[in-house]
Amino acid sequence: MQKPGNPYGTHRVIEPKGVLPQPALRVDNNFTKIYDNEILCDVITLNIDAASFTDIKDRAGNDPEKVAKTMLDIVSQFGKHKNPRTGSGGMFIGKVREIGNSLKDRIGLKKGDRIASLVSLSLTPLRIDNIKKIHMEKDQVDINGQAVLFESSIWAKIPNDMPETLVLAVLDVAGAPAQVDRLVEPGDTVAVIGARGKSGLLCCYQAKKKAGPSGKVIAVVHRLEGREDVDNAPFVDLSVVGKADQALELLETIEKVTDGKLCNKVISCVSRENCEMGAVLITKDKGKVYFFSMATSFTKAALGAEGVGKDIEMIVGNGYCQGHAELTLNLMRESGYLMDLYTRRYC
Ligand SMILES: NC(=O)c1ccc[n+]([C@@H]2O[C@H](COP(=O)([O-])OP(=O)(O)OC[C@H]3O[C@@H](n4cnc5c(N)ncnc54)[C@H](OP(=O)(O)O)[C@@H]3O)[C@@H](O)[C@H]2O)c1
Repeated sequence: MQKPGNPYGTHRVIEPKGVLPQPALRVDNNFTKIYDNEILCDVITLNIDAASFTDIKDRAGNDPEKVAKTMLDIVSQFGKHKNPRTGSGGMFIGKVREIGNSLKDRIGLKKGDRIASLVSLSLTPLRIDNIKKIHMEKDQVDINGQAVLFESSIWAKIPNDMPETLVLAVLDVAGAPAQVDRLVEPGDTVAVIGARGKSGLLCCYQAKKKAGPSGKVIAVVHRLEGREDVDNAPFVDLSVVGKADQALELLETIEKVTDGKLCNKVISCVSRENCEMGAVLITKDKGKVYFFSMATSFTKAALGAEGVGKDIEMIVGNGYCQGHAELTLNLMRESGYLMDLYTRRYC
């Protein structure tokens, strides 16, 4: 007889009691008996959130053995992969091992199906038995281990027209292009910061699709290395090199290329801290900034914008919006350029 679980997974929270699994400090990752509304998966690969993985690699001096140790420590301490410094997680792909009795007949999933979790590892109970391989440049880690998804967790079956690791990579950031789809209007000037990154290029594609020929997509890249990825992209109108943490320099650059008009929409896809003011300064008054980056500080953005007298709307990067997985996978199917580039990068 399986125990009934809470739809949001609070039955797994050990500490502090009463909070939901994401803000919880520690969750129960003992999967000997699952609850009646859980999906138990054998995990194949973890995709660690870019802000978190960048932080882990930095602290480990880029040594894969130290990265592995840090990851194992996080999971053994907290029962989930929530980096205590960034607060963020990632997602996983895995194979369904067991489905709780109350879910079995109503979710269209069966034992053996391969799925991608679309909820953060920062709330997903996870056990790592051993780390098989760390893909340092892809933010992906092959493991033996298990995880459970809750009744309220979202997931997607792995489509069979794309490589699994590519699906894992793009679904991790599916919220970004899907929110861009809602935000960008025809004729907009859109700046994407961190444009060469995984979410950045997807956002550039969707921004151009929505802004149309009268709009402009400006790709802001961090450094010259790899700039060709945005320069060759048929959906980028213009690329500039600029560091978002050097806000005044970035402002000067964007003023030059927009004749001082700045941008109606700014999308922040960076993986490092202190980039809030770069995004704020290059946004027109009454424009909007979408902070997808997990390295964003609410305090720095809110007080920083106030401090420079910017009347702009700032949007927290909710990783979920309806239809985000479908939109992102379709975007990959539509764009031969992205499919080629991401296959080279992530497969
Ligand atoms: N909101 C959500 O639900 C959600 C979900 C998943 C991920 N995220 C977050 O989204 C962000 C992007 O993820 P991703 O997977 O696309 O990361 P990614 O592929 O690592 O891309 C990040 C990009 O940011 C650039 N960058 C770093 N510092 C910068 C700076 N000071 N100025 C300008 N650009 C800078 C990097 O440039 P270089 O390559 O040249 O260093 C890189 O191209 C991360 O913070 C991640 O944690 C959020």
